[in-house]
Formats: sequence, C-alpha cells, structure tokens
Amino acid sequence: MKYRIKQIQCRPWLLNGLSPRLIESHYENNYGGALRRLNAISEQLAALDFASTPGHVLNGLKREELVALNSTLLHELYFASLGGDGQPTKGMAQALAEQFGSLERWRAEFRAMGYALGGGSGWVILAYVPRDGRLINQYAAEHSQSVAGGVPILALDMYEHAYHMDFGANARAYVDTFMRNLDWPALEARHGDACKVAPPRPLEQPEFGAVQGIGVEEVREMMAAGRPVQVIDVRPRHFVSRQQDIAAGIPWRDPEQLQEWIGELSKSEPVVVYCAYGFHIGCKTAIKLREAGFDAKYMNSGHSGWRAVGAPVKLLP
Ligand SMILES: [Fe+2]
Repeated sequence: MKYRIKQIQCRPWLLNGLSPRLIESHYENNYGGALRRLNAISEQLAALDFASTPGHVLNGLKREELVALNSTLLHELYFASLGGDGQPTKGMAQALAEQFGSLERWRAEFRAMGYALGGGSGWVILAYVPRDGRLINQYAAEHSQSVAGGVPILALDMYEHAYHMDFGANARAYVDTFMRNLDWPALEARHGDACKVAPPRPLEQPEFGAVQGIGVEEVREMMAAGRPVQVIDVRPRHFVSRQQDIAAGIPWRDPEQLQEWIGELSKSEPVVVYCAYGFHIGCKTAIKLREAGFDAKYMNSGHSGWRAVGAPVKLLP
C-alpha cells in the first residue's frame, strides 16, 4: 500500500515574510522527495527475502524507511503549523504556561532551540507525552528521533532548505518569522486531540481488589516531610538475604510472621508495606493489615522502585 501525498495546510501566498517560492520548493522537493523515497523503500522492503538478506542491508533499509517516514510526517506538521497570525490563543497560552512556567518561558526555549540549530540541521518539536500528560520541546536530528509514544503538535524545520532561499544563513530571522506565522488555533486543536490519547495502561492486579497502592516518590516525600507514616519492608526472607540491602530508615519484618510484629504498629498512623517489586507479598500483607483495622497501603514497584528512583539504601548487617 502506497503512502499518499497530503495537501499543504497553510496558504503559501498568505504567509508573512516567507515567500511562496520557498514554500513551494520545500513542499515539492523536500516533502515530496521524502514521500517518494518512502514509497520506493517500502516497495523494496515488500519484495525482500528476509532469510537471504544480509543484516546490514536490512538495517540500512529500515533506517532509511524511518528517516523518510518521519520526514514525511514532520513536514506535514510543519506546513500545518504555519498560516496564522502568531497570536497565542487563550487556551494554548494557558496550557503552555502550566507546563513551562509561563508562555514566555516556553517561547524562549522553543526559539532558542531553533537558533541553536542554525548552521546545523534538525527539527524543533513541541510534543505531548500521554504517559504524564506533559508537553515538551523536543530536539530531533536526522528526522528520526522522536519521543516514543509522544504526539508532536508543532514542528519547526531547521534544515537549510527550509529557509536558505529567503534568509541566506540568517537562521535567527527565519525562526522569528516562523513564530510570527504560527497558526495558534490549529495548534490548540491538535493539542486537544493529543490530550485525548490515553496514557499507557497501568499494571492491573484485580486479584487484590480495592487495596490501594501508593507511589515510591509519594512515600519518600511523606518521610522526608516528617509526616506520620509507618513504612515496613516485607520482602520474603529469601529475597532480603539475596539482595543484601534495605531502604535507609525502614525496618524489615518477615511477612510470614505477621502476627508476631503486628502489635508494634499503631492504628492512628497510616501503614505502608512493600515487597520486592510491588506484586503479591506487599499487596497480601496490606490486605491482612486492613482486615486487622489498619489504614494500610502497599507501595507500588516495591524495593526495586525505591532503588530505581535513587532513594537511599544501606547494607543489611
Ligand atoms: Fe524541510
């Protein structure tokens, strides 16, 4: 199946300070070129005998496919980014201010990234990352870098072919002109679409019903702030003896011997328990504690998560 060309989304004759000749050449030669390459590579790949194709040939084709496909997609987004009056919409200004501190701060970073690519080449992309519902300004060289799972909503082309005809080597003037032509209502619409992309599915453990988990970062913050919380490491004995370390300031108790240590706990303060990775033992212990009348939760991702965020550990005696 062939990739088909998309109509240019900005009206070249209406742009302010970017000539129709430049936009036309960009669309026909660079965007069109990427699309033509992409289709040629796809055809070659479709005809390939994978059993007899040397690894380096396949690597090369797949790399070129990625470059051509991303170049195609980013050029479509680039042309769709242009054609406005450069006046931020209220909704978009608010979204950027929330994420970057202020609209000005976002603009300063985006612009500076464009300036920094002057004389080099690459893309400056504003992308939405569904995992955390975040917006980031992303650098992308070679058309081929993109945030995995990210949704690009604004793209600035910093390859020389995007500006040399009108601006010579003056990449800064080009970046400023791009910003003056930004189509903010279209950007806001794309942002709205991106926000509807669901984050990756969280781990589900339906067997543990309603028992609540709490994040490692949250537990760490509670402890650092001196908030009342009883945190207990309940990794199975064989895990503790193998891993040889323990979160600093947190006691270990054998989950098999719950009845022996449950009396140490206070019912007036929340309890957080965790095991090695956040699966069974931590959840089961939290359930038993809840049944005994404690406000107990298990810590997601367990001791591994504690170490993964760089929280302090000490060697077990
Ligand atoms: Fe381009």
